[in-house]
Amino acid sequence: MKQYYIAGNWKMHRTIAESVELAKELVAKLEGSSSKIMIAPAFTSLAAVATVLKGSNVLLGAQNMGPEEQGAHTGEISPAMLKDAGVSVVILGHSERRHSYLETDELINKKLLLALKHGLEPILCVGETLAEREGGNLESVVRTQVVEGLKGVAETELAKVIIAYEPVWAIGTGKTATPEDADAVHAYIRRVLKELYSEKSAVAMTIQYGGSVKPENAAELMAKANIDGALVGGASLKAESFVPIVNFYK
Ligand code: PGA
Repeated sequence: MKQYYIAGNWKMHRTIAESVELAKELVAKLEGSSSKIMIAPAFTSLAAVATVLKGSNVLLGAQNMGPEEQGAHTGEISPAMLKDAGVSVVILGHSERRHSYLETDELINKKLLLALKHGLEPILCVGETLAEREGGNLESVVRTQVVEGLKGVAETELAKVIIAYEPVWAIGTGKTATPEDADAVHAYIRRVLKELYSEKSAVAMTIQYGGSVKPENAAELMAKANIDGALVGGASLKAESFVPIVNFYK
């Protein structure tokens, strides 16, 4: 079995004490899991959660990162700051960043290149809105986000990048793409990667699906050939729902 990569995006939830408590519970319950696992708490909880995760099989991720090394950038967090807090993975271009905070492909690409430069593993999120899908623009939207997001990434560096396909209409709505629909878009992303790089790199890419992943639908999504993991929002906030998703194969 391939190694699946299950990540939890805690979004703007949980105080430091609550984050530590949840992280402790996850570390205890996920020990020995064969999945690659990451959790991304809020910035304020990162350092405290890093202490809990030390020596465990759970990686620490951030939900965003600034596009600069350092300097006069009020409100931003640099890659060095994230690493200092114990972070090794960073989610970039999440649809909430794209749509609520108007992040462009160009900005996301700048962050991605900076993350790679600093040895952080970027998870590049892509996905179409319902209007884009219904207007027949799914492929062109996803293609643009992949091509522009990866601009300047050499093939040797591509192996450090993860892609998460998250249809915007499925995020936090309870509506999941059918496993067939999700798999088809993942296959399309591989075709784009093959054009940009090579068949080998396209096949090797880890592509997570995100959007209302729950214990009830995780196994059927993961069963699809092109789905290599999940980026989980709501269901990652409780051990009782996140643990069975990580261990969907059991
Ligand atoms: P959801 O969020 O699982 O709550 O739909 C997924 C995400 O935004 O990463």
